[in-house]
Amino acid sequence: MRELTTIAELRVVLDGERRAGRQVGLVPTMGFLHAGHASLMQGAAAECALVVSTIFVNPLQFGPGEDLESYPRDLDGDRATAVAAGVDILFVPPLAEMYPEPMATSVSVSGVSAGMEGASRPTHFDGVATVVAKLFNLAGPCRAYFGEKDFQQLAVVRRMVRDLSFPVEIVGCPTVREPDGLAMSSRNAYLDVDQRVAAPVLHRALRLGADLIEAGAADPDTVREAMRALVGAEPLARLDYVEVADPDRLDALSTFDHHRGRSVRLLAAARFGTPRLLDNVGVVVPVGE
Ligand code: PAF
Repeated sequence: MRELTTIAELRVVLDGERRAGRQVGLVPTMGFLHAGHASLMQGAAAECALVVSTIFVNPLQFGPGEDLESYPRDLDGDRATAVAAGVDILFVPPLAEMYPEPMATSVSVSGVSAGMEGASRPTHFDGVATVVAKLFNLAGPCRAYFGEKDFQQLAVVRRMVRDLSFPVEIVGCPTVREPDGLAMSSRNAYLDVDQRVAAPVLHRALRLGADLIEAGAADPDTVREAMRALVGAEPLARLDYVEVADPDRLDALSTFDHHRGRSVRLLAAARFGTPRLLDNVGVVVPVGE
């Protein structure tokens, strides 16, 4: 694995690789890599001749008072994870390389960015879309790999790629979970022992919602109410939202009528003390009578 830190080097190396006919697969990350990231890298290695992964804690996507300064970092551990997962080039640019001057340009994806994470973190998705657009321009990937764990982010990136005609296929990869159901996340490192025990309630609530839908729940509100009640019964959890949404537009559903025989997405976010975790699952609405 080669490690690069400048845009100029990355461009020279990847131009050469593309001229030699090798397709680039990109796995953008903010580091502190875990098995979820490794699965994205392995997916890229299985499908692309050259796997580029990036580690950059992007300040644009953190709001005031969020965890930019304390975001966990472990570059040595990340190098080992990336090598083992088949990464060929690890791009680790310093802040001044990515943003040598304050950005005057921002990519904003309306609609799909608005609710849930967008409502709780109003500048977050502009920051994500801007850095992902920049990374696509730097790496020129044929395919880029994102986890379904950040399902709204995946939808935002897909929409940006469609709207701006980026020549890249977005590959969404299944969430990797701990044995008790907790979705893997770099932010799980913030949980203390009691919060860690409580945190899988988020996944249990989503599973409950999915079971209710499969059993023929009458409407999305019934499902939201049941999920809210389950998270609400966990004293260490402070619920931010639960949602039943269209899997592409991510708008909240008021009825299942237009989704019979199709998938819907259940999404949730909650704080366990200071740490804020999110999770989601997909479920197909039964066709009914
Ligand atoms: O999912 C993440 O780790 C980040 O939001 C991403 C896509 C690397 C952009 O900074």
